[in-house]
Amino acid sequence: MANAELDLDPTALAARFPKGFAWGVATSAYQVEGAAAEEGRGRSIWDTFARVPGAIADGQTGDVACDHYHRFREDVALMAGIGARAYRFSVSWPRVQPDGTGAANERGLDFYDRLVDALLAAGVQPLVNLFHWDLPQAIQDRGGFANAGVVGWFADHAAVVAGRLGDRVTDWMTFNEPAVFAFLGHADGIHAPGLRDWPTALRVADNQLRAHAAAGSVIRSLVRDARIGIAIDVNQVAPATDSDRDRRAAAAWSSARDAWFLDPLFGRGYPRLGLEAHRAAGHLDGVELSDPPPGDLDYLGLNYYRRDAVSARSDASFDWEIGPRAGTEQTQMDWEVAPEGLRDVLLALHVEYAPREIVITENGAAYPDTVDPDGRIHDAPRVRYLARHLAAAAEALAAGVPLTGYHAWSVLDNYEWSLGYTRRFGLVRVDFENQRRTRKDSADWFARLIAASG
Ligand code: FCB
Repeated sequence: MANAELDLDPTALAARFPKGFAWGVATSAYQVEGAAAEEGRGRSIWDTFARVPGAIADGQTGDVACDHYHRFREDVALMAGIGARAYRFSVSWPRVQPDGTGAANERGLDFYDRLVDALLAAGVQPLVNLFHWDLPQAIQDRGGFANAGVVGWFADHAAVVAGRLGDRVTDWMTFNEPAVFAFLGHADGIHAPGLRDWPTALRVADNQLRAHAAAGSVIRSLVRDARIGIAIDVNQVAPATDSDRDRRAAAAWSSARDAWFLDPLFGRGYPRLGLEAHRAAGHLDGVELSDPPPGDLDYLGLNYYRRDAVSARSDASFDWEIGPRAGTEQTQMDWEVAPEGLRDVLLALHVEYAPREIVITENGAAYPDTVDPDGRIHDAPRVRYLARHLAAAAEALAAGVPLTGYHAWSVLDNYEWSLGYTRRFGLVRVDFENQRRTRKDSADWFARLIAASG
């Protein structure tokens, strides 16, 4: 087994990363903020979707979540206590523009103002993500991201946020995981807005790529020395067996999903294999794809969690089963643990697209933590997961990948979308009964790693 002689000593691991490496932690608005009906916040599609019977494993919503909206000072102190140098958070679009378009809600913007000031005072660099799936319901009512008008509305959203925070924030991100938003929300129906229509999903993807470019130029025009990125989720895609059929299916899936965003972002237009796969499955019927402009990225954000094995049920396009291989080590998400895949994905991105920089913008694991009688949480599996992935990232660095940062997902246990509060990804435990925060062993371990990295 790879990593058999894994060293969990954070000091040794830290030594494999350069000084100044951006060690950070990440969250997103709907998953942590709560305060869903306060100070003028409008409704988002997640407020709607979370109320659809059966949509969420525990029937819960993000109405309260981690109550981060009210407890952000305590949370910033926790981050500073861990030694985090960066905090990646997202702005809730309906909080700052309740109707999605038009007048800004100053009270909503004030919250992000206070948050940014608190972070800077604590020595934690903010990284502002403009979109983590919580689209204003008012925009969904006009067709959502499938309506081409969203490109301009999103650019306005970027202007509203950059106009308020751009004097203090240089690190920006336009979208988190556009593939998950487009495909899980509009083709698979398991995320908001819960649609099941591939042509809509591909229109959404197309508009996200165009909105990324539009928002990017807006930010550059408003923020001096802005650094602009996007977070793409690329897991390791592998054929389930050595058969030709599985190999072809894996190649087609990774092109139809990952390269679908990466190729246009790096100026190549849509990938041929992916086009063939979507076309053969009828996903492009009635869809007019644009020629999305290149992404103009200062850094590429990579969200990495697992290996996805692809097995073909037949020769038909998209007649594929995608998931963990039986008998493999998996987290509580049923995600196959594959640290070497992180190294391989980093190397592949570097060779294939040569981004100026890569930042791992998410990586982490859900495990069923237990609280010991003394109140401590010895989450050894999470420590091991993080250590193995960081060791793999260090191998990629040593091989020349321009990796400049790593954000653990997540600093807090939070609302895990359609799984509600049933999955915990935090370095810090949140007791959702009373909002008490408790550092887990993984937080202590991560803190020691950052401290050792100087
Ligand atoms: C990613 C999401 C993030 C979180 C993790 C576990 O796909 O970006 O919000 O849910 O998975």
